[in-house]
Amino acid sequence: MATAALRRSVSAFRGLRTTLPLASVFGAARPFSSTVAVKMPSKMPSSGALVELAKGRHSIYKLGRESPVSDDKIEELVNQAILNVPSAFNTQSTRLVVLLHKEHERLWEIAMDCFQGLVKNGTLSEETWKGQTQPKLQGFKDGLGTILFYEDPAHIKPYQEKFPSFKDQFGPWAEHTNAMHQYFLWIGLESLGFGANLQHYNPLIDSAVAKQWDVPTEWRLISQLVFGSPEVEAQEKPKKPVEERVKIYGKL
Ligand SMILES: Cc1cc2nc3c(=O)[nH]c(=O)nc-3n(C[C@H](O)[C@H](O)[C@H](O)COP(=O)(O)O)c2cc1C
Repeated sequence: MATAALRRSVSAFRGLRTTLPLASVFGAARPFSSTVAVKMPSKMPSSGALVELAKGRHSIYKLGRESPVSDDKIEELVNQAILNVPSAFNTQSTRLVVLLHKEHERLWEIAMDCFQGLVKNGTLSEETWKGQTQPKLQGFKDGLGTILFYEDPAHIKPYQEKFPSFKDQFGPWAEHTNAMHQYFLWIGLESLGFGANLQHYNPLIDSAVAKQWDVPTEWRLISQLVFGSPEVEAQEKPKKPVEERVKIYGKL
């Protein structure tokens, strides 16, 4: 079920894609450069479409399996995230695993199995499992796909060695770039007409997931973005006042 806001976001995003072809921004001659020819944009791009997408993004927990697009479109979006989201020192350490349809369902069955293990060993009560955890996991399983966000330390360590003065920063920076991928894909999926929510069942599910999909065990699972057809109207959450959270100086 696409809401009016969602439809507006989708058309705004499509508008962004058609009004801002990369060639029009980066394509023509820059006379004083010997290397790259850059075309100045004929008019300044508007942030409106991006803002509409940001405003239309919400955590949607009631998801269905109807897809507004082909799986190819989802793959294309994920590939664009991996190609275009920046990383510190261009480390490109983020890894994405996309699970669709039956594979997505398998993920949430694995999560259920992990929790049932906790019930068996007494860590989780039967009551909490039946009343809360199981229905929640079933809600995720009812969706259409999940994107798993990983960080590959093999692509961080060499930079820590090469730039020792930033050694302790590369860990947090890897988290930052991973979060950027998450946000890009959250609003990107919204732009395709999906609803989504962000989960963190790591580290409980890590080893079972790595085994199921042959994920290198060194990769660190950071989060899971669950998506599907939005089955409820998005709920706007309360916002703290902007003026408490933004300071601006030098504004003309
Ligand atoms: C870094 C981060 C971690 C989050 N972790 C979870 C999570 O583990 N489970 C969950 O249901 N929602 C999670 N959320 C969703 C937030 O609770 C939600 O985005 C926030 O309450 C605002 O609601 P909205 O997404 O509808 O705007 C997370 C969001 C962020 C940005």
